[in-house]
Amino acid sequence: MAGEGTPPAALWGGRFEGGMAPAMVPLNLSLDVDRRLWRHDIVGSRAWARALGRARVLEADEVQALTEGLDRVEARLAAHGVSDATDEDIHSLVERLLTEEAGDVALKLHTGRSRNDQVATDLRLWVREVGEELAERVTTLGRALVELAATGMDIVMPGYTHLQQGQPIRAAHWALAPVWPLLRDRDRIRGAVRAAGVLPLGSGAVAGCPFPVDRDALAADLGFHGVSRNSLDAISDRDFLADLLYAGALTGMHLSRIAEDLVLFSSAEFAFVRLDDGYSTGSSLMPQKRNPDVAELTRGKSGRLLGNLTGLLTLLKGLPTGYNRDLQEDKSLAFDTVDTLDLVLPALAGAVATARFRPERIAARLDSQLWATDLADYLVRRGVPFRRSHEAVGRIVRLAEDRGCGLGDLTTDDLRGIHDAFDDDVHQVFDWDRSADSRGVPGGTSRSAVEAQMAAARAALDA
Ligand code: ARG
Repeated sequence: MAGEGTPPAALWGGRFEGGMAPAMVPLNLSLDVDRRLWRHDIVGSRAWARALGRARVLEADEVQALTEGLDRVEARLAAHGVSDATDEDIHSLVERLLTEEAGDVALKLHTGRSRNDQVATDLRLWVREVGEELAERVTTLGRALVELAATGMDIVMPGYTHLQQGQPIRAAHWALAPVWPLLRDRDRIRGAVRAAGVLPLGSGAVAGCPFPVDRDALAADLGFHGVSRNSLDAISDRDFLADLLYAGALTGMHLSRIAEDLVLFSSAEFAFVRLDDGYSTGSSLMPQKRNPDVAELTRGKSGRLLGNLTGLLTLLKGLPTGYNRDLQEDKSLAFDTVDTLDLVLPALAGAVATARFRPERIAARLDSQLWATDLADYLVRRGVPFRRSHEAVGRIVRLAEDRGCGLGDLTTDDLRGIHDAFDDDVHQVFDWDRSADSRGVPGGTSRSAVEAQMAAARAALDA
């Protein structure tokens, strides 16, 4: 039994006889995973010591001894890391080191606090920190796409539906398309950060704190915007983590689709885009190979981002009200999502920033049938109902196919043979720039619409 001046052997040893079963020990340990919360644990602990001081539970000199002791623990961990400590978790480790640094006063730090409200607080502090960094990385990728788009304003390429050529678009329009989902992803990440800004500390293990801690002051001290309203909810609420993992899964899905386009468009069959050597890899067997691994790995990694979200929701769904040890499993999932995105986002941003359009290859792929809708629209402008013009142009396409020629190779007489509303000026339709420029609505492909879109994307990324 621990007497005066002797630290307790474990955080909860008092009521137990004998040690933990050997098979239970490794299952019980979480230090390998939660060690990365050490800074957050110290920040939360310092604030808790100050809160106990304001509540007159601790004397001023005790608060000072604790906060200075925690400063020294922080310096020690910063210098040497957690290394090979055998403590159960990061909370036990910090408390043990504090005992070494500050002596018996350390035994008072856990007054009115539980690891349940402590770990929830640590995690929220962590989400707020990494969420901001993640949002920044998403922004960087968005900026890279905008810069690539700027090089594609004069390039008209096929716009695809069903992966079949549909209508001409500007390459800039294609490069800007994924910027918008990324901006929404960033909003979602920021939403998770905001959700994390509610303070659970002061909830104790389940029922709240018996000492008159000013939780609003504690929240302000830690930079939280509010305090939780129900201790039972607070210690098991991981919605903010689910928000982050959902934002991460959706980001991953968007990155995967960017990646898929890059794989496709960098292939010999398309060759619309060339990835820089720095983001390509070779083959150990085929000397000529230049593989878009950056995109394939991005696409592959998106699976685990979805898996982490699924894992967390599955973990949470059957828990009875209050803290349950299952919750310990939340961290490896959350850390993996952030680590995966930390890996993927800079690589993909670099690949996009150094990618180049290949205008000559794009131009060679433009099929004259991309003008079919423009022909139908021409007839509409001459008063032909769209359903009839659609039908007429369908026959024109068949005629050109039968003759083995392009739409632009047909004469006015050929076209008039199918519909008499065609005139000589119809040949103006067969112009790629004109076609793209004909769609001038906001969000369309005209030069001015795409320029406005690009300016809006830049402004949104800066916001
Ligand atoms: N390592 C635990 C976790 O991550 C800390 C909380 C432990 N609480 C408890 N009552 N055993 O959830």
